[in-house]
Amino acid sequence: MSSDQASRLRSLAQGRPAEQPLFAARVVAITSGKGGVGKTNVVAGLALALAQQGQRVVVMDADFGLANLDILLGLSPKYTLEHVLRGEKVIEEILLDGPLGIRIIPASSGIQELTRLDTMSELRLVQGLQRVAETADWLLIDTAAGIHDSVLKLLMAAQEVVLIATPEPTSLVDAYAMVKVLHLREAGKPLWLLVNNGQSADEAQETVDQLQAVTERFLGKQLRVLGMIPNDPHILQAVRQQRGVVELFPHSPATQAFQALARQLLGQVSLQPDGFASFWRQLASDDSN
Ligand SMILES: Nc1ncnc2c1ncn2[C@@H]1O[C@H](COP(=O)(O)OP(=O)(O)OP(=O)(O)O)[C@@H](O)[C@H]1O
Ligand SMILES: [Mg+2]
Repeated sequence: MSSDQASRLRSLAQGRPAEQPLFAARVVAITSGKGGVGKTNVVAGLALALAQQGQRVVVMDADFGLANLDILLGLSPKYTLEHVLRGEKVIEEILLDGPLGIRIIPASSGIQELTRLDTMSELRLVQGLQRVAETADWLLIDTAAGIHDSVLKLLMAAQEVVLIATPEPTSLVDAYAMVKVLHLREAGKPLWLLVNNGQSADEAQETVDQLQAVTERFLGKQLRVLGMIPNDPHILQAVRQQRGVVELFPHSPATQAFQALARQLLGQVSLQPDGFASFWRQLASDDSN
């Protein structure tokens, strides 16, 4: 063992953050107030765009109600997180290899919520995810829509939260509700806003302006703008073929937007020492519930 490794282990054992992050992955949760606004497509697009830029990406499907990330990418998992939680498989056995080297942790619909696990299941999951996180630069989490306790806890624990809204009035109202709930839990938590499915840049900008205006006025909160993904029929075509749009239509407007988003994240999101370990500490603690 090198002296560097030994010092990391020592500081871990002493409960201090190591100088070098032991678990490299930046944890980014993607969420929305309203359902059906494009979370799963954005997670897939962003994952592939990051992979194109040489990043090692793991995507976790945390939508236990309607898990469908695997379907979107044409993968058929034989085993899912459920098997890991039951102790029948280790996480490496359920990881799916997706396009461009991304790896996917599949969920199965209707499994126990991540935040209500018994101690043994939690230990299995935490240890497995830590191993996976050591070999990744990004852990992207596709969450279920809406303001449920389990989703909120995941969001609070993640290093970065990306909120997706579309220009529809219902999506705007629900996005504001989500910002408000997150703000009440932790006012200082930064939030990225991503506008999806705008018919034009002007329409998307209007959505950003409207949401910024209400969050600043009523909550005194500034949202950070991650960018916009335009309405692009290539997305639907890719969904129908169960392929990532980034791979299938490399020159489409959606792909270009995903690549810009990936560059933005790469430039703006730094590696935090102890980032992944702190994710789990928060997820496992009861006080933020
Ligand atoms: N930018 C876009 N342009 C065109 N169609 C889009 C775009 N984004 C998403 N869609 C379409 O919207 C639908 C919903 O997308 P998706 O499943 O990613 O949403 P979701 O937020 O994950 O939904 P859920 O809340 O049910 O998990 C899909 O049929 C997808 O093809
Ligand atoms: Mg989804």
